[in-house]
Amino acid sequence: HGIPRAFLRWRARRGDTFATLLAGERGLHDPYPLIEELRGPGLRRTPLAYACFEHSKVRSILRDNRFGVFPALGPEVPPPLRKLAERVVPPPSPVEPPSMLVLNPPEHTRMRKPVASAFTPRAIGRLRDRVETVTTELLDAMPAHGSIDLVTDFAAQVPIAIIAEMLGFPAADRELFLRWGDRVTPLLDIGTSWRSYREAMAATDTLADYLAEHIEKLRDEPGDDILSSLVTSGDLTMRELQAGAGLLMGAGFETTVNLIGNAVAALSANPDQLAIAQNDPDRWPDVVEETLRFDPPVQTTARVALEDVEVDGMTVKAGATVILSLAGANRDPSVFADPDRFDIDRPNIKEHVAFSSGIHACLGASLARMEAVHALRALYARYPDLRLREEPVRRNLFTLHGFEHMPVDLGPVA
Ligand code: HEM
Repeated sequence: HGIPRAFLRWRARRGDTFATLLAGERGLHDPYPLIEELRGPGLRRTPLAYACFEHSKVRSILRDNRFGVFPALGPEVPPPLRKLAERVVPPPSPVEPPSMLVLNPPEHTRMRKPVASAFTPRAIGRLRDRVETVTTELLDAMPAHGSIDLVTDFAAQVPIAIIAEMLGFPAADRELFLRWGDRVTPLLDIGTSWRSYREAMAATDTLADYLAEHIEKLRDEPGDDILSSLVTSGDLTMRELQAGAGLLMGAGFETTVNLIGNAVAALSANPDQLAIAQNDPDRWPDVVEETLRFDPPVQTTARVALEDVEVDGMTVKAGATVILSLAGANRDPSVFADPDRFDIDRPNIKEHVAFSSGIHACLGASLARMEAVHALRALYARYPDLRLREEPVRRNLFTLHGFEHMPVDLGPVA
């Protein structure tokens, strides 16, 4: 991604809408009007990179094997340091190879296949009871008639508890993961500042040591979790296991927390839609699906052309980057009527690309959906009058889109 944040900010100040979307204040708080300014058919050439906001084209590029993924590097290494940087072996990280997220076939297939079997809808169905128990315990611990931070006290707690169990981590370490997650996630942004890049690298280093120790422990005493089966299968090297476990851990909670928070924000702004789900609990899956479309927790992804590719009469040269706006595709008016409306009755509610498409399509989609449906249904069943207490605060991230804090008044228990 290699574009320094300072450069994007500078371009944003000079009125570059795309730079504002990727790194400006307006992009952080309300990206959608900027996306509408940028929207146009097909692939767009911008001074920063190619960009795409059209649903059909975003999907077709994601499914096109002439495009591939590439490591989410931090800010461009200055040329005098480049030789040195190339000699340093970075710590295994969720956003660098051998993490499947940034591998192309055949390596991608080798890394994804052993993990995929643990994430089938059937396997996830078996976790439903655990999600219910975790949610109930959290709700039981809440103050009657009180106020909480919906993000830190609830939305983040459900997915972190479940992914920690799936990977055999002790419950006591969950707070540590939240802290590492906060440090590493800025690497997913198109522009990362040097400061957050350095912090992310330091956190990745500590995380890698922690994971190595944990993996050795599972090798000696395997548990009933998916990481234990990956470790004991002997198919993956230590570095691959560290990258894979780090990816599952981060992806397992950094996105689902945003999905739950974004849903509460959308429901608070649209009480008529909330009323539909409160009157018919079978409609919660539609609330979750419409939140994924309307305010997706992952706003953009990117691909690089692996060869010269003709698109819309332009030659995208091998090595060129295409930024794909998942949020833009989800509000494409040619696919979703009245796209800025939060409407759980949409006929084509599942056509969004919030989980991407093609070979990198989200492995955890069934798990994320299941967790969000259960968490929201249980929350509003217990506290039907839940209200925002003050304006929620957005996270200082662009690719991962959600709230850092959301103070709410719970209201009386049902
Ligand atoms: C990949 C979104 C939850 C595991 C992805 C991608 C997106 C995404 C957009 C693909 C990125 C690309 O194409 O470049 C989301 C959203 C989630 C969510 C919106 C929640 C609302 C989860 C969960 C897990 C997970 C709960 C696992 C526990 C993964 C993995 C990949 C991935 C392993 C990489 C797949 C590959 O590269 O083949 N996710 N995700 N995700 N996600 Fe998720």
